[in-house]
Amino acid sequence: MTQTTSAPRRLAHDSEEYKAALASSLRWDADRKEPYLQLPNFPHIRLAPFREGIEDDMVTLFNHPEVGKRLYSLPYPMPRSFAESWVEKDLPKHKAIISAIAEHAVSLEADEPISPKPNAPLLNGSPFKSVWDTEQGRIIADIKYAIDTENADGSNKTEDEAYAVPRAQQKYELGYVLEPAAWGKGLATEIVGAIVYGYGDVWVRPGTLSAYAETDNAGSGRVLVKNGLQKIKEISEKWPEHKGGEVHHAGYYERRV
Ligand SMILES: CC(C)(COP(=O)(O)OP(=O)(O)OC[C@H]1O[C@@H](n2cnc3c(N)ncnc32)[C@H](O)[C@@H]1OP(=O)(O)O)[C@@H](O)C(=O)NCCC(=O)NCCS
Repeated sequence: MTQTTSAPRRLAHDSEEYKAALASSLRWDADRKEPYLQLPNFPHIRLAPFREGIEDDMVTLFNHPEVGKRLYSLPYPMPRSFAESWVEKDLPKHKAIISAIAEHAVSLEADEPISPKPNAPLLNGSPFKSVWDTEQGRIIADIKYAIDTENADGSNKTEDEAYAVPRAQQKYELGYVLEPAAWGKGLATEIVGAIVYGYGDVWVRPGTLSAYAETDNAGSGRVLVKNGLQKIKEISEKWPEHKGGEVHHAGYYERRV
């Protein structure tokens, strides 16, 4: 008798099953004692907090020319010392949010969905940054889901000042980079979906979610639209000299709840 094994069925991004999988994507890593976000269609891909020892993976990811040229504010090339300082600065913040999730979760069972207790407070920020390929044991993407500290006049406020305004007036910003070898498989859509629907909409609930996508980066704009953001306007921005200095055109996207 011949036995056939069929590939696991892929959940369509517009299906109710996919939305349910995103909504329950927050899980507990019992070995590391930290939460992670599980992608619905990629069992070996997860979003995790920063950890020590990832600096080389970060430098490799951010220094790929196709990735580095798209980013306005990060240095290109990114020196290892920059990645070291970044991890050192954000690691304590991630640990604090992990503690809050653990404290306010209904239960923490290995690899089971985590949900907040009914009276759980809303949290500030996100501990999810690195996207891991657990089969290869390395980082393949990076995600930003962070409070926007820019004022309407272009000046900046501190994170604490940004967190101090009522939740409905808080604006969070999304950003993402994925290594080119992994493009075109639906990964960025699911990475953004997991952080928005699996974490942000449940534990943070900011009034506005925002993002920029360059006009010539059709895939990036599509990732945002597929995750509920709408294009609000077009902007033009002079890029830093060390990245060519030309004027770049981008769409500004938002979702308000
Ligand atoms: C932009 C980027 C994140 C897309 O990642 P990805 O995993 O390939 O995206 P997905 O496979 O989830 O595709 C999302 C959608 O965009 C479409 N798409 C992807 N690349 C595209 C392209 N080059 N042109 C047109 N559409 C494209 C896909 O078909 C899909 O739409 P569909 O589901 O309706 O078919 C990735 O290319 C990247 O990291 N680029 C460099 C860094 C960057 O641009 N970051 C964003 C800064 S704003």
